[in-house]
Amino acid sequence: MSGVLTLRDVDLSGKRVLVRVDFNVPLDKETGEVSDDTRIVAAIPTIKYVAENGGKTILVSHLGRPKGKRDPKYSMEKVSKSLERLIGKPVAFVPDCIGDEVEKAVSKMNNGDILLLENVRFYPEEEKNDPEFSKRLSAIADIHVNDAFGTAHRGHASNVGAAQYLTSVPGFLMQKEIEMLGMAVESPKHPYVVILGGAKVSDKIGVITNLLEKADRILIGGAMMFTFLKALGKQTGDSLVEEDKIELAKEIMRKAEEKKVELVLPVDTVVSKEIAAGSESKTVLIDEGVPSGWKGLDIGTSTIELFRSKLVDAKTVVWNGPMGVFEIDDFAKGTESIAKTLASLKGAVTIIGGGDSAAAINKFGLADRVSHVSTGGGASLEMLEGKEMPGIRSLATKEGKKKT
Ligand code: 3PG
Repeated sequence: MSGVLTLRDVDLSGKRVLVRVDFNVPLDKETGEVSDDTRIVAAIPTIKYVAENGGKTILVSHLGRPKGKRDPKYSMEKVSKSLERLIGKPVAFVPDCIGDEVEKAVSKMNNGDILLLENVRFYPEEEKNDPEFSKRLSAIADIHVNDAFGTAHRGHASNVGAAQYLTSVPGFLMQKEIEMLGMAVESPKHPYVVILGGAKVSDKIGVITNLLEKADRILIGGAMMFTFLKALGKQTGDSLVEEDKIELAKEIMRKAEEKKVELVLPVDTVVSKEIAAGSESKTVLIDEGVPSGWKGLDIGTSTIELFRSKLVDAKTVVWNGPMGVFEIDDFAKGTESIAKTLASLKGAVTIIGGGDSAAAINKFGLADRVSHVSTGGGASLEMLEGKEMPGIRSLATKEGKKKT
């Protein structure tokens, strides 16, 4: 984060502070209530800091994909109630994000007050990064704080466009995400072990390609392992295989050898005929092959041991993607064991990419035993791919110039 202004560098007292947060949280399908408040909790240090330093906090976020139209299902009002409970202070809610009502509410704010605006994606101009819309959003504030790491891969009005009109500084969450994930791609301590899982190789091509240049070992689990195993001529039964990525898997393995990166594949897998709790399951050796009619849904116990042995001396670990169908307990052991191994490592920086792996570490109650759990799904992937993201490029530099 060198060269970038930080929140601590700016005087907030009496200032109207437009804080772009990522409150794009999961909602319960039946009640519509916030079902996972991780992203709200993660933004609290920034919100508290602004309020405690005399700023008037005006929060803005998107929620879901309402396609540029007002949709009560995606109203931020529920989120304002969650935030109020979590922060222990009143949070005013305005049912719009631009216009008279917003201006009036902001003009009545006292130092330390917190206000949450309505879903910014109710306007199509948000995703188009419309300059006029960005200007109107910015007109109610003196400074822009970007704490929406989860949205950093989007170049939208409320995170990027506003930076054309206001000085944009990162919030504490954004800063920590950039520092931790940035370290993993730029200056990891060695041995550096990357664990990749999830269903598809195609989702992780960019990450593998980038991290092949930096990692000492790459451990592959999850359904994506079967594309690699098939490329090695193994029998994969009915497991998920991306046939059109088999050549790519071969290429990745060739590159790993060339770069002397140890690519570690599972030696056994838990198979079942169905992806359902309580269905018959057994462990089979990869060398013996997955029988037809069966599919691999988790890594087996020998693989868990093998992966553990590749992790014990690690100084940096990045984990992205579950080892199996961890949502079903019968196929969660691989993912849980990896989470426990990471939690037990001494002297290693352990970074969990967002999305499913973050959900897994939370499910096993180990989030506070690792160094960092990213709040970004797509954004953490792009960061690990080494891409420069618009929501980071737009942050102000110490010289006061925008980076764009
Ligand atoms: C996310 O959840 O990844 C971010 O909030 C971005 O949401 P989007 O994919 O709808 O742009």
